[in-house]
Amino acid sequence: MAHVITVAGRKGGTGKTVLSHSLAHGLGLHGIATVMVTTDPDREILPSDSRRYLTQDGRDPARLVELLARVEGDPQFVVVIDGGGNRPAFDAVLAEASDITIVPFTPSAEDIRVLRLDLQRIPDAYALPNRWPTNAMAKKVADGLLAQRLAEFRGRMMNPMPSVNALTTLVDEGLPSSSIGPACKGFALRILERMGLSLFDFRTA
Ligand SMILES: Nc1ncnc2c1ncn2[C@@H]1O[C@H](COP(=O)(O)OP(=O)(O)OP(=O)(O)O)[C@@H](O)[C@H]1O
Ligand SMILES: [Mg+2]
Repeated sequence: MAHVITVAGRKGGTGKTVLSHSLAHGLGLHGIATVMVTTDPDREILPSDSRRYLTQDGRDPARLVELLARVEGDPQFVVVIDGGGNRPAFDAVLAEASDITIVPFTPSAEDIRVLRLDLQRIPDAYALPNRWPTNAMAKKVADGLLAQRLAEFRGRMMNPMPSVNALTTLVDEGLPSSSIGPACKGFALRILERMGLSLFDFRTA
């Protein structure tokens, strides 16, 4: 079976698209055959040239099913799906078809409110604190918000992803910045670990 990872969540602007690319980039840098699928009808498909992973169009659900069926039998493949946002029923279907579902959120009361609903609705989804501050004061406030409002989801909380401006080079057409390599590789390893996988499970190129 191919390994399927969905990055989902109802709230807009939490980083689903950038993190899907970051994860695919990190997996690709580790030498893992990775396909990143866009399902958001409002987004164009970025070209695969100059990427370490393939980009595919899953905006039409029939095509998405076809894509998944094509790689289904190959355990060497990882598929990363950008859920697109604001489609809870679609997210639930994607989560069912995935080995792991990640719901990013930023340190805002509104993101946390919507995240709580998503975590209740998708019982095996993990939460990913994104754009998490690294400045000591701001981090203290953000960590406080997390401890206060998400205590019962502690076991489903992943390590935070900081704000890394150069990650946005992944959603552009040129070459991704080389500075993001370590952050993306580390991110990919953290997700694989949550899935009970490691690099030894892949014939890395
Ligand atoms: N870790 C990060 N570091 C720096 N910028 C980030 C990070 N994560 C997201 N961003 C920026 O935040 C903005 C929103 O991110 P993105 O478009 O990935 O969110 P989204 O959840 O896919 O939004 P939508 O719901 O509209 O699809 C973008 O400008 C993106 O570049
Ligand atoms: Mg998006």
